[in-house]
Amino acid sequence: MKFFLDTANVDEIREAAATGIICGITTNPTLIAKEGRDFKETIIEITSIVDGPISAEVISLEAEGMVREAEDIAAWHPNIVIKIPMTWEGLKAVNVLSKKNIKTNVTLVFNPNQALAAARAGATYVSPFVGRFTDITQDGIALVSDIAEIFSLHDISTQIIAASIRTPMDVFESARAGADIATVPYKVLMQMIKHPLTDIGIERFLADWESVPKK
Ligand code: E4P
Repeated sequence: MKFFLDTANVDEIREAAATGIICGITTNPTLIAKEGRDFKETIIEITSIVDGPISAEVISLEAEGMVREAEDIAAWHPNIVIKIPMTWEGLKAVNVLSKKNIKTNVTLVFNPNQALAAARAGATYVSPFVGRFTDITQDGIALVSDIAEIFSLHDISTQIIAASIRTPMDVFESARAGADIATVPYKVLMQMIKHPLTDIGIERFLADWESVPKK
Protein backbone atom coordinates (compact mmCIF):
# COMPACT_ATOMS: atom_id res chain seq x y z
CA MET A 1 0.00 0.00 0.00
CA LYS A 2 1.21 3.47 -0.90
CA PHE A 3 0.65 6.72 0.99
CA PHE A 4 -0.98 9.91 -0.21
CA LEU A 5 -1.32 12.95 2.07
CA ASP A 6 -4.87 14.23 2.59
CA THR A 7 -4.34 17.98 2.87
CA ALA A 8 -4.07 21.24 0.93
CA ASN A 9 -1.54 22.69 3.36
CA VAL A 10 1.73 23.21 1.49
CA ASP A 11 3.87 23.32 4.67
CA GLU A 12 2.57 19.90 5.72
CA ILE A 13 3.09 18.61 2.17
CA ARG A 14 6.70 19.90 2.05
CA GLU A 15 7.52 18.37 5.44
CA ALA A 16 5.97 14.96 4.60
CA ALA A 17 7.45 14.90 1.09
CA ALA A 18 10.95 15.27 2.55
CA THR A 19 10.69 11.69 3.91
CA GLY A 20 9.93 10.24 0.47
CA ILE A 21 6.98 8.21 1.77
CA ILE A 22 4.27 10.34 0.17
CA CYS A 23 3.64 9.74 -3.51
CA GLY A 24 0.42 11.73 -4.05
CA ILE A 25 -1.98 14.26 -2.54
CA THR A 26 -5.74 14.37 -2.16
CA THR A 27 -7.68 17.57 -1.55
CA ASN A 28 -11.38 18.35 -1.32
CA PRO A 29 -13.37 21.61 -1.10
CA THR A 30 -13.24 21.54 2.72
CA LEU A 31 -9.44 21.14 2.80
CA ILE A 32 -9.03 23.91 0.19
CA ALA A 33 -11.35 26.25 2.16
CA LYS A 34 -9.31 25.63 5.33
CA GLU A 35 -6.22 27.16 3.70
CA GLY A 36 -7.96 30.44 2.78
CA ARG A 37 -6.13 30.62 -0.56
CA ASP A 38 -7.03 30.55 -4.22
CA PHE A 39 -7.88 27.02 -5.46
CA LYS A 40 -5.82 27.10 -8.66
CA GLU A 41 -2.79 28.71 -7.00
CA THR A 42 -2.86 26.10 -4.21
CA ILE A 43 -3.13 23.11 -6.55
CA ILE A 44 -0.38 24.40 -8.81
CA GLU A 45 1.93 24.92 -5.82
CA ILE A 46 1.18 21.36 -4.66
CA THR A 47 2.12 19.98 -8.09
CA SER A 48 5.49 21.70 -7.73
CA ILE A 49 6.17 19.88 -4.43
CA VAL A 50 4.97 16.32 -5.10
CA ASP A 51 5.60 14.57 -8.40
CA GLY A 52 2.59 12.23 -8.30
CA PRO A 53 -1.20 12.18 -8.57
CA ILE A 54 -2.81 15.33 -7.09
CA SER A 55 -6.57 15.08 -6.64
CA ALA A 56 -8.63 18.27 -7.10
CA GLU A 57 -12.41 18.13 -6.80
CA VAL A 58 -15.14 19.58 -9.03
CA ILE A 59 -18.17 21.25 -7.46
CA SER A 60 -20.75 21.00 -10.28
CA LEU A 61 -23.53 18.49 -9.77
CA GLU A 62 -24.41 17.98 -13.46
CA ALA A 63 -22.19 15.82 -15.69
CA GLU A 64 -21.74 18.57 -18.25
CA GLY A 65 -20.55 21.06 -15.63
CA MET A 66 -18.25 18.46 -14.04
CA VAL A 67 -16.64 17.74 -17.41
CA ARG A 68 -16.20 21.45 -18.12
CA GLU A 69 -14.57 22.04 -14.72
CA ALA A 70 -12.47 18.88 -15.03
CA GLU A 71 -11.07 19.90 -18.40
CA ASP A 72 -10.10 23.30 -17.02
CA ILE A 73 -8.46 21.90 -13.85
CA ALA A 74 -6.70 19.03 -15.69
CA ALA A 75 -5.02 21.56 -17.99
CA TRP A 76 -3.19 23.11 -15.00
CA HIS A 77 -0.74 20.18 -14.70
CA PRO A 78 -0.37 16.63 -16.13
CA ASN A 79 -0.37 15.05 -12.62
CA ILE A 80 -3.82 16.33 -11.71
CA VAL A 81 -6.54 13.76 -11.03
CA ILE A 82 -10.14 14.98 -11.04
CA LYS A 83 -12.20 14.09 -8.01
CA ILE A 84 -15.79 13.35 -8.97
CA PRO A 85 -18.58 12.64 -6.46
CA MET A 86 -20.16 9.19 -6.59
CA THR A 87 -23.50 10.10 -8.20
CA TRP A 88 -25.32 9.13 -11.40
CA GLU A 89 -24.17 12.40 -13.00
CA GLY A 90 -20.68 11.73 -11.66
CA LEU A 91 -20.57 8.37 -13.47
CA LYS A 92 -21.53 10.08 -16.73
CA ALA A 93 -18.72 12.58 -16.24
CA VAL A 94 -16.19 9.83 -15.42
CA ASN A 95 -17.18 8.00 -18.61
CA VAL A 96 -16.55 11.11 -20.73
CA LEU A 97 -13.32 12.01 -18.92
CA SER A 98 -11.83 8.52 -19.14
CA LYS A 99 -12.31 8.61 -22.94
CA LYS A 100 -10.40 11.90 -22.96
CA ASN A 101 -7.62 10.28 -20.89
CA ILE A 102 -8.33 12.52 -17.91
CA LYS A 103 -7.73 10.60 -14.67
CA THR A 104 -10.52 10.50 -12.09
CA ASN A 105 -10.89 9.71 -8.40
CA VAL A 106 -14.49 8.83 -7.55
CA THR A 107 -15.08 10.11 -4.05
CA LEU A 108 -17.66 9.55 -1.28
CA VAL A 109 -17.91 5.80 -1.92
CA PHE A 110 -19.85 3.95 0.79
CA ASN A 111 -20.71 0.57 -0.75
CA PRO A 112 -19.02 -1.97 -3.04
CA ASN A 113 -21.62 -1.54 -5.81
CA GLN A 114 -20.76 2.15 -6.04
CA ALA A 115 -17.09 1.22 -6.34
CA LEU A 116 -17.79 -1.38 -9.02
CA ALA A 117 -19.98 1.06 -11.00
CA ALA A 118 -17.28 3.76 -10.77
CA ALA A 119 -14.66 1.29 -12.02
CA ARG A 120 -16.85 0.24 -14.92
CA ALA A 121 -17.45 3.90 -15.84
CA GLY A 122 -13.65 4.21 -16.18
CA ALA A 123 -12.48 5.63 -12.83
CA THR A 124 -8.74 5.58 -12.22
CA TYR A 125 -9.28 5.57 -8.43
CA VAL A 126 -12.20 4.98 -6.05
CA SER A 127 -12.20 6.43 -2.55
CA PRO A 128 -14.16 4.51 0.10
CA PHE A 129 -14.51 6.78 3.17
CA VAL A 130 -13.43 4.58 6.06
CA GLY A 131 -13.85 7.10 8.90
CA ARG A 132 -17.18 8.60 7.87
CA PHE A 133 -18.60 5.08 7.45
CA THR A 134 -17.30 4.00 10.85
CA ASP A 135 -18.80 7.23 12.32
CA ILE A 136 -22.26 5.84 11.58
CA THR A 137 -21.38 2.49 13.22
CA GLN A 138 -20.67 0.72 9.94
CA ASP A 139 -17.48 -1.21 9.20
CA GLY A 140 -15.27 1.05 7.07
CA ILE A 141 -12.50 -1.53 6.85
CA ALA A 142 -14.90 -4.26 5.68
CA LEU A 143 -15.96 -1.81 2.95
CA VAL A 144 -12.33 -1.56 1.74
CA SER A 145 -11.81 -5.30 1.93
CA ASP A 146 -15.06 -6.07 0.03
CA ILE A 147 -14.08 -3.67 -2.76
CA ALA A 148 -10.56 -5.13 -2.89
CA GLU A 149 -11.96 -8.66 -3.12
CA ILE A 150 -14.35 -7.74 -5.94
CA PHE A 151 -11.71 -5.83 -7.91
CA SER A 152 -9.27 -8.71 -7.62
CA LEU A 153 -11.92 -11.33 -8.53
CA HIS A 154 -12.90 -9.43 -11.66
CA ASP A 155 -9.44 -8.24 -12.61
CA ILE A 156 -10.31 -4.56 -12.27
CA SER A 157 -7.36 -2.18 -12.44
CA THR A 158 -9.07 0.80 -10.74
CA GLN A 159 -7.05 1.58 -7.61
CA ILE A 160 -8.58 1.75 -4.15
CA ILE A 161 -7.74 4.78 -2.01
CA ALA A 162 -8.72 4.26 1.64
CA ALA A 163 -9.94 7.77 2.53
CA SER A 164 -11.34 9.55 5.57
CA ILE A 165 -8.57 8.03 7.67
CA ARG A 166 -8.78 9.04 11.33
CA THR A 167 -6.28 6.83 13.18
CA PRO A 168 -3.05 4.85 12.65
CA MET A 169 -5.19 1.74 13.14
CA ASP A 170 -7.28 2.76 10.08
CA VAL A 171 -4.04 2.89 8.08
CA PHE A 172 -2.77 -0.53 9.09
CA GLU A 173 -6.19 -2.15 8.69
CA SER A 174 -6.64 -0.56 5.26
CA ALA A 175 -3.30 -2.04 4.18
CA ARG A 176 -4.38 -5.46 5.44
CA ALA A 177 -7.77 -5.10 3.73
CA GLY A 178 -6.10 -4.62 0.35
CA ALA A 179 -6.23 -0.85 -0.28
CA ASP A 180 -3.73 0.22 -2.94
CA ILE A 181 -3.29 3.60 -1.27
CA ALA A 182 -4.25 5.24 2.03
CA THR A 183 -4.70 9.00 1.95
CA VAL A 184 -3.60 10.07 5.40
CA PRO A 185 -4.00 13.40 7.25
CA TYR A 186 -0.69 14.91 8.42
CA LYS A 187 -1.56 14.38 12.09
CA VAL A 188 -2.18 10.65 11.55
CA LEU A 189 1.05 10.34 9.57
CA MET A 190 2.95 11.73 12.57
CA GLN A 191 1.10 9.40 14.97
CA MET A 192 1.93 6.40 12.75
CA ILE A 193 5.63 7.02 12.93
CA LYS A 194 5.98 7.64 16.67
CA HIS A 195 6.35 4.90 19.23
CA PRO A 196 7.11 5.46 22.95
CA LEU A 197 9.57 2.52 23.00
CA THR A 198 11.50 4.10 20.10
CA ASP A 199 11.78 7.35 22.10
CA ILE A 200 12.79 5.52 25.30
CA GLY A 201 15.32 3.48 23.30
CA ILE A 202 16.93 6.61 21.85
CA GLU A 203 17.06 8.24 25.29
CA ARG A 204 18.76 5.15 26.75
CA PHE A 205 21.30 4.91 23.91
CA LEU A 206 22.20 8.59 24.37
CA ALA A 207 22.49 8.21 28.15
CA ASP A 208 24.71 5.10 27.80
CA TRP A 209 26.85 6.90 25.21
CA GLU A 210 27.75 9.44 27.91
CA SER A 211 29.58 6.68 29.84
CA VAL A 212 31.74 5.67 26.85
CA PRO A 213 35.34 6.80 27.60
CA LYS A 214 36.32 9.55 25.23
CA LYS A 215 39.93 10.25 24.29
C1 E4P B 1 -10.56 11.92 0.60
O1 E4P B 1 -10.06 12.03 -0.51
C2 E4P B 1 -11.11 13.01 1.39
O2 E4P B 1 -10.41 14.20 1.08
C3 E4P B 1 -10.92 12.82 2.88
O3 E4P B 1 -10.24 11.62 3.15
C4 E4P B 1 -12.14 13.04 3.70
O4 E4P B 1 -11.82 12.84 5.05
P1 E4P B 1 -12.76 13.32 6.26
O5 E4P B 1 -13.89 12.37 6.37
O6 E4P B 1 -11.87 13.27 7.45
O7 E4P B 1 -13.22 14.72 5.91
